[in-house]
Amino acid sequence: MTSDTAIGIHDLSFATTEFVLEHTVLAEYDGTDIGKYHVGIGQRSMSVPAADEDIVTMAVAAAAPITARHGVDQIRTVLFATETSIDQSKAAGVYVHSLLGLPSSARVVELKQACYSGTAALQLAIGLVRRDPSQRVLVIASDISKYDLDSPGEATQGAAAVAMLVSADPTLIRIEDPSGLYTADVMDFWRPNYRTTALVDGHQSIGAYLQALEGSWKDYTEQGGRPLSDFSAFCYHQPFTKMAFKAHRHLLNICGQDADPAEISRTLGLTTAYNSVLGNSYTASMYVALASLLDHADDLTDQAIGFVSYGSGSVAEFFAGTVVPGYQGHLRTAANREAIDRRQPLDHARYRELHGRSIPNDGGVHPVPRQTGAPVRLSALDHHKRIYELR
Ligand code: HMG
Repeated sequence: MTSDTAIGIHDLSFATTEFVLEHTVLAEYDGTDIGKYHVGIGQRSMSVPAADEDIVTMAVAAAAPITARHGVDQIRTVLFATETSIDQSKAAGVYVHSLLGLPSSARVVELKQACYSGTAALQLAIGLVRRDPSQRVLVIASDISKYDLDSPGEATQGAAAVAMLVSADPTLIRIEDPSGLYTADVMDFWRPNYRTTALVDGHQSIGAYLQALEGSWKDYTEQGGRPLSDFSAFCYHQPFTKMAFKAHRHLLNICGQDADPAEISRTLGLTTAYNSVLGNSYTASMYVALASLLDHADDLTDQAIGFVSYGSGSVAEFFAGTVVPGYQGHLRTAANREAIDRRQPLDHARYRELHGRSIPNDGGVHPVPRQTGAPVRLSALDHHKRIYELR
């Protein structure tokens, strides 16, 4: 095994929720000009979880097609990235491990650093596969973005889970060295343990994201990374899709290049199709952008993609991947579209009702109403335990 053995994303699948709220419905309720949502932030709708959905049910829905295609025998590690944790102690991935029937000879752990930890999981997975290329790592990024009702962040909610199988000789994306890294202690967005909704200084968070992009790009170039002109596309973390355009303009500016709108549209446009209708899925967002790019581009064979992962608080990483010849034969385009199109639209009253739901914390037995058509649902809370049910 040499360090130049290709390691990367062998398969990628995503899932989202049962329900969707169109931004037109939100705009009608709050009196906002729809242009602010559709153009200003670049969002058209947001995924809303049913009462019986959470990060585990979405994660199983995302990962089940991967284990069905590749089997489970080589998976010895599950890395579950989330900032919508359901337990302070037990990793959500342990439920997923059980529901997917993964081998007991596996390690499972949960990772957190806002939206960044999906990338931490991917990089740790690459290290594990480099140590033993016969092993595969299941990386899951699953999140529900929730802000207070009637707050500026409300229009940037959403939910999704991405599952990725990381292996040697991948069929989709080879992940390259080096990475550009950046960490700064900023209070731009956070969620204390006693809150179900995030706290955010929206405008500060945009500045913190741009600062982190700049820092991670600077480190990437200092580590000997590719020049900007090498990249044919960029997958940015997309808390709202307009953010990717702001970020790319910033990157071009710091590299002393013209920010030609047509050129920016060409390099980013295909990455935003899914996130503009799913909303912010935190850890999953940048990988949903990758799915969107691969599903919509004509042919990206051997092309370099730049990845910009940002997690508030804050940590960022800039890294590159190249697209593997033959990748089109391994995509899940029809299933991805189906996951989006099958969502049921909500009216505003029903959305508010779901937003206001909370998990009972009295230790009693509480069945959860059956709402989702997902392969797994949260069926009850029983003496503080989450009970999941396979369909
Ligand atoms: P806001 O302050 O209500 O909106 O909320 P605004 O007044 O800044 O307007 C937004 C844009 O719409 C502006 O464009 C307006 O001009 C435009 P910009 O100047 O930015 O280019 N606009 C219109 N355009 C067309 N027609 C109209 C119209 N009206 C206005 N009629 C804000 C916006 C993003 C602050 C808010 O939604 C928010 O707080 N969101 C949550 C925080 C967030 O997403 N931050 C992003 C960076 S931090 C990050 O990415 C990390 C995160 O994912 C968390 C994690 O890491 O875990 C959030």
